Amino acid sequence: MSTNTHPDRFAGKTAIVTGAGGAIGSATARRLAAQGANVVVVDFDEATAQQTVDAITADGGTARVRVADVSDPEQVRGYVDYTLEQFERIDILFNNAAINGQMVPIVDYPLDVYRKVVAINLDGVFYGLHFTLPHMIAQGFGNIVNTASVAGIIGHADHSAYAATKHAVVGLTRVAAAEVAGKGVRVNTLAPGPVNAPMMHANERMQTPDDPMRYRRKVLANIPAGRYAEIDEIASAACWLMSDESEYVHGIVLPVEGAFTSSI
Ligand SMILES: NC(=O)c1ccc[n+]([C@@H]2O[C@H](COP(=O)([O-])OP(=O)(O)OC[C@H]3O[C@@H](n4cnc5c(N)ncnc54)[C@H](O)[C@@H]3O)[C@@H](O)[C@H]2O)c1
Repeated sequence: MSTNTHPDRFAGKTAIVTGAGGAIGSATARRLAAQGANVVVVDFDEATAQQTVDAITADGGTARVRVADVSDPEQVRGYVDYTLEQFERIDILFNNAAINGQMVPIVDYPLDVYRKVVAINLDGVFYGLHFTLPHMIAQGFGNIVNTASVAGIIGHADHSAYAATKHAVVGLTRVAAAEVAGKGVRVNTLAPGPVNAPMMHANERMQTPDDPMRYRRKVLANIPAGRYAEIDEIASAACWLMSDESEYVHGIVLPVEGAFTSSI
């Protein structure tokens, strides 16, 4: 029986993590590798992806970098083919790369930024499903976690493109789960609340540039737990969804957000 700290929890498994040069992706990739998985670290930023691989290797784990832009279907096909070449199977996909876009009203939202947010946050997740599911279905086993957000559950002013894509990720997950639950494959959504990580710190600077802590205080006033999530708390929840401990869990949205959405 595996446990959430067991070094063999993901032994023999191959995992792809997109956005694995970033905060949540890197922490999750490191956790997966520390518990036995071979990890393909996908990011369009080669330097940060390499840092994740170096950290995994230093811990004695196995990982490879694959530079790819998830908004390009050929590059998604490329990371899938690369993973099969390197490790011969794909057991886990953490479909996690995303960007925040801008925080302005819909009427002011730059259309080129809108398209980019949709291309990365939604198309990238769809392509990940499209190209990995055939292999998972063929082997009769697979586990996909798509990263949404509390912005995939509620709508806050000024966050239109991001919230729209994250709501769409929730819908896509439910459809995918229904399509493949009978084929040994699970698909779930992780919905982090604000995380003590660079993406949220950038939001603070964007919203109240004169005093970023002012925006933080406003957000924290809506989080009953009284703090942001730590990166490892999100990685831990992601790994639970990816592990056999959540075996009968399909198509859910798992909020990890200090009761943020409970109290709204
Ligand atoms: N940080 C938060 O507060 C928070 C809250 C809720 C949800 N999330 C979600 O968690 C996930 C990870 O967020 P994070 O905090 O680690 O952000 P992050 O910015 O630290 O990491 C995102 C990574 O994705 C990569 N990326 C962006 N566009 C890409 C593309 N087109 N192709 C390949 N890689 C690309 C970036 O280079 C970066 O390394 C995202 O889906 C985000 O929306 C984050």
